[in-house]
Amino acid sequence: MKILVIGGGGREHAVVWKLAQSRRVTKIFCAPGNAGIAEQAECVPIAATDVAALTAFAVERQIDFTVVGPEAPLCAGIVDALAARGRRAFGPSRQAAQLEGSKVFAKRFLLKYGIPTARMEVFTEVGPALECVRRWGAPVVVKADGLAAGKGVIVAQAVAEAEQAVVNILEKKVFGAAGRQVIIEECLTGPEASVMAFVDGQTYRLMSPAQDHKRVSDGDTGPNTGGMGAYSPTPAVAPALEKTIRDIFDRTLAGLREEGMDYRGVLYAGLMLTPTGPQVLEFNCRFGDPETQAVLPRLEGDLLDVLEATAAGRLTEAQLTWTRDTAVCVVLAAGGYPGDYVKGQPIRGLKEAGQLAKVCVFHAGTKRNAAGEIVTDGGRVLGVTALGTDLAGAVRQAYAAVERIHFDGMQYRRDIAARGLPRSQT
Ligand code: AMP
Ligand code: GLY
Repeated sequence: MKILVIGGGGREHAVVWKLAQSRRVTKIFCAPGNAGIAEQAECVPIAATDVAALTAFAVERQIDFTVVGPEAPLCAGIVDALAARGRRAFGPSRQAAQLEGSKVFAKRFLLKYGIPTARMEVFTEVGPALECVRRWGAPVVVKADGLAAGKGVIVAQAVAEAEQAVVNILEKKVFGAAGRQVIIEECLTGPEASVMAFVDGQTYRLMSPAQDHKRVSDGDTGPNTGGMGAYSPTPAVAPALEKTIRDIFDRTLAGLREEGMDYRGVLYAGLMLTPTGPQVLEFNCRFGDPETQAVLPRLEGDLLDVLEATAAGRLTEAQLTWTRDTAVCVVLAAGGYPGDYVKGQPIRGLKEAGQLAKVCVFHAGTKRNAAGEIVTDGGRVLGVTALGTDLAGAVRQAYAAVERIHFDGMQYRRDIAARGLPRSQT
């Protein structure tokens, strides 16, 4: 089968790497891909957001199955566009992708179907939004409705900060049309967990839970990022929580059916494990990044089988088992990320790191320069994943691999998965 993977980050490298192990896959294209993906796939220079060009490519090259990585093309309706041209794809329709594309839509859905989530109010006018912020007091959370590349959520510790966020979103339009509506939300506390599920319209199958590290610096300090590392499974999701998490997905699927939404793809629930139980912070309509780099290496069997079964509404037939290993992914980022950073720094030690046992070096923001060297080409540059029979072993191996890699300005967190380790081992 000929496969097209859309995207060019660490998540897509993990997907391509896993699909390349499938006996049924004869050829993988990736748009736009990166220097690591180019080892397993033919990269095509089409942006992940260019729905028309991607659809034309899939038709022209007779792609059998397209796997969509990022949310932007899903929310723009790429799966519908491909289906209209007779091309099968993995990911939700435009309508179903609203669960990520509109936070207002998602919150109203959660509240309507009795799924635990923070209290909220929605505003389109600055005045009433400011009034709400003052009435609620700090800490309080301000969210832009639409897609804002992970920057649309402000957890304000002071009223003034929340007021500023409201003004930035509704008046200064810093997120453009994504900020037409603003959500003022109760601030929850607790550890976070990422629970992803394959959903085939009728049923769902949970993936092994993961934990992301959103802040840029150790000890969860500094600004939010796309994610600085992940590990799976995580002891944060204790077996006792599984029933509640299943209940969240049961209600979500029932709600989707009620709304007449045929959701097929990955549904990712960002959960906060509050003292009173898990609550949904957000839905994503796709695989998490970097969670996928810690989850897919633990998947036994053929990823293509699972993705096809999901898209075809035959998920119950799919074989979905996980190795007993723990996986840890440490993201290596460019200096300055998530603010401004330079590109084009040569990366050393990729081969040496990749030679270590049970290590995969996933590329996120890399390319080959004119001289053929692999250089940095994004904020998150690499995701170094190691598997281990226990979490401590996986952490040691991941950092052993990290130590072999170097580029100018390289920054990474030293405490990925530390929260999952007993205190004595951190
Ligand atoms: P989201 O894009 O909705 O996942 O938000 C990004 C991050 O903001 C989450 O991972 C949380 O760390 C934080 N966050 C979102 N909503 C809340 C909330 N209601 N209370 C506290 N933190 C939140
Ligand atoms: N790691 C967070 C996300 O994929 O949205």
